[in-house]
Amino acid sequence: MRKTLFASLLLIILVAVAYTAYQENKPWVIPEEAKSRKNPLQPSEAALRSARGLYGENCAQCHGDAGKGDGSEALRYDPKPADFTDAPHMNSVTDGALFYQISQGRKPMPAFKRRMTEDQRWQLVLLIRSFAPRAEKKSAAPSTAATN
Ligand code: HEC
Repeated sequence: MRKTLFASLLLIILVAVAYTAYQENKPWVIPEEAKSRKNPLQPSEAALRSARGLYGENCAQCHGDAGKGDGSEALRYDPKPADFTDAPHMNSVTDGALFYQISQGRKPMPAFKRRMTEDQRWQLVLLIRSFAPRAEKKSAAPSTAATN
């Protein structure tokens, strides 16, 4: 009797652990309407400068100074912080999706919707985009894009 009880307890614990691990590695589901949102901001030096400050304070410890997902705290986490220089991946996600992820967060990444304004989060989307080369052939350099 004792043995069966012990065995079933053990089984319950194992199932719980496996379930948690499974949950944590589930793909990040983003609502379609969030994905289709467009960035209202144009890339500009001012927006990028502001974003760099925010990024250095709030994101670099996990995502790394150059967006490679290699910040000082990155090793602690599984899944690892996203690598924003991974062009094939970055070209497969929309601005709206990135905005949603920054806003909502997902363990261990904090949610930023209450800590930052919408503009600040869209600025971060612009900055994240600047870490990976775009799919389109030769995008205009930011300095020429901001001349008007
Ligand atoms: C505590 C560490 C941590 C901090 C701080 C953090 N992130 Fe993350 N971030 C993560 C992890 C871990 C993931 C992967 C989460 C997952 O896939 O479930 C992630 C994923 C993302 C993604 C999804 C990318 C993709 O397409 O897979 C974006 C965008 C992102 N982070 C942006 C940011 C920005 C911008 C900041 C700062 C405002 C930030 N993160 C701060 C850990 C962090």
